[in-house]
Amino acid sequence: MKTLREYVKEAEEKGVAIGHFNISNLEGLHGIYNAAKKLNVPVIIGLSEGEEDFVGKSEAVGMIKELREKENFPIFLNADHHYSFDRVKASIDAGFDAVIFDGVNLSFEENVKITKQCVDYAKSTDKDVLVEAELGYIGSGSNIKETIPEGAGIKTKPEEAQKYVEMTGIDMLAPSVGSIHGLIKSGKPHIDCELVAEIRKVTGIPLVLHGGSGLRDEDFTNGIKAGISIVHINTEIRLAYDEALKKSLAENPNEVAPYKILQPAVEAVEKVVEERLKLFNNLK
Ligand code: G3H
Ligand code: ZN
Repeated sequence: MKTLREYVKEAEEKGVAIGHFNISNLEGLHGIYNAAKKLNVPVIIGLSEGEEDFVGKSEAVGMIKELREKENFPIFLNADHHYSFDRVKASIDAGFDAVIFDGVNLSFEENVKITKQCVDYAKSTDKDVLVEAELGYIGSGSNIKETIPEGAGIKTKPEEAQKYVEMTGIDMLAPSVGSIHGLIKSGKPHIDCELVAEIRKVTGIPLVLHGGSGLRDEDFTNGIKAGISIVHINTEIRLAYDEALKKSLAENPNEVAPYKILQPAVEAVEKVVEERLKLFNNLK
């Protein structure tokens, strides 16, 4: 099977993007995997530090590797938004396919220093692990927000992105180009596609769009045309899971079998993921 690095390259050549979806449990994984399998497209499972602690590092690596190797399906695992070298290193050691060092709250110099440390460590291993990093603040937390948080949405400057990539040697960059983490009740700004194209050109590496929940369809399609190769979605599937679970519990007050109570939540996640994957992969 091709590596994640090869799948990202292929996505760029085809003018599509790989969907990246976060999970907190096995139901989330089933919903995402069912959708990707139905459409026969590669998919990335993301675990933030909190999600990773809840699911378990080894458990997550075990589940994804088994699916990939036994089912021969291109499903990959990413350590999403990890905030220290030690956490990134632990995920690399555990066998993740990709890691994200998130140093956006640090000074540029400190961000460069730790990002480079992560890249050097990844390269020192015998694993083909992709290292991604973020530049420009797009807010934090996959949750529902009334308005855009203060300080979020400051767009990445192409010259700074170029310098950052040159100084760190990262494989992929998550720039701030208009999206914000979470579902914003008042709506999200449009993706700045000219900026995406400019950053892709000057950095020469694949770009990852974070904060995908709540964006308009044309923002995804135009952003992908402009140079986005991976799109992250989390809040939309959290919300779908949450609503389906509450409904299931309310409608079946006497049911105690978790696999029965949780089935509608799996299906709700699958539905959201299927729609997003169709859009990202240009499928009808
Ligand atoms: O890394 C995770 C994503 O960027 C998710 O963003 O919650 O707005 O979909 P979202
Ligand atoms: Zn993100």
